[in-house]
Amino acid sequence: MGQQDNNNYVTNSLFSLEGKTALVTGGSSGLGLIMAKGLLCNGVRVVIASRNQEKCDMALAELSEFGECWALAADVTDSEDRARLLQFVEEKLGGLSILINNAGANWGAKLEEYPDDGFAKVINTNLTAVFSLTRDAVPLLSKSATAEDPSRIINIGSMDGIHVPIVQRVPTFAYSSSKAALHHLTRSFAVELAARHITVNAIAPGFFESKMTDYVFEHYKKDIEDDCPLHRVGKPEEMVGIVTYLASRAGAYTNGTVIPVDGGTSISKGKRPWTK
Ligand SMILES: NC(=O)c1ccc[n+]([C@@H]2O[C@H](COP(=O)([O-])OP(=O)(O)OC[C@H]3O[C@@H](n4cnc5c(N)ncnc54)[C@H](OP(=O)(O)O)[C@@H]3O)[C@@H](O)[C@H]2O)c1
Repeated sequence: MGQQDNNNYVTNSLFSLEGKTALVTGGSSGLGLIMAKGLLCNGVRVVIASRNQEKCDMALAELSEFGECWALAADVTDSEDRARLLQFVEEKLGGLSILINNAGANWGAKLEEYPDDGFAKVINTNLTAVFSLTRDAVPLLSKSATAEDPSRIINIGSMDGIHVPIVQRVPTFAYSSSKAALHHLTRSFAVELAARHITVNAIAPGFFESKMTDYVFEHYKKDIEDDCPLHRVGKPEEMVGIVTYLASRAGAYTNGTVIPVDGGTSISKGKRPWTK
């Protein structure tokens, strides 16, 4: 083993993101904001997008401290907004080496009260918009891709796409289905896009603090912790860690996977008080 191999194995080089470019949808709050910050702290130039202009402005003010960042108010379920967003990305970043499909919505209601339009909204945001934005972003991703260093698509799925969630008490039929479908879309895209030197993976987070989880944390934090073999929720750096792996040289051969980051919740069977 020569000096070159040794250098290749050093984490600073193996996990380096320096010089890359990224688009993070839903980057104005929660997990998207965390991942955008993580990328910026590691030398990535980042565009974030979400629907609300004020939220974009506030996030941009926070993120600009950490590196070169731009924000655009755009709804990923709207085709004109998607086109505007990709044009903005091309203007600001030139190409795109990392696409993080993170924007997401949820809807919880009893079966008899679960509305069709609520179901459609969740599927549109969490699944259909990811398909459309990814399809249209392929030329930009291809522009930045090489066989040595593929461009990366990272879809934010959920542990709820792996198991049927219980702690929320209110069923989330559309959410779980959309995330399970997103996990499989990830595999389809991975096979389709490999020839263009683009890898596609999904992260399936467990519970992390965000606007989406405010309500459940307030009411069921103890149940959430009991339900997790590690008896805790996720920490922001644990999302940054998995994104860094997937987007760096270390993750270049990982393709078509769904990686749970949930403390083991999705493979456990509910409360185990005897393990405490
Ligand atoms: N937090 C968790 O515990 C957890 C667990 C598993 C999976 N996830 C997934 O992680 C992702 C982020 O969720 P979060 O928990 O961070 O929730 P969040 O704080 O509510 O963030 C959602 C983000 O998506 C944006 N957004 C929603 N609809 C959009 C649309 N149509 N177009 C563009 N942007 C849109 C929101 O901004 P605007 O309102 O301005 O549009 C916001 O920036 C979601 O896909 C969620 O399913 C979260």
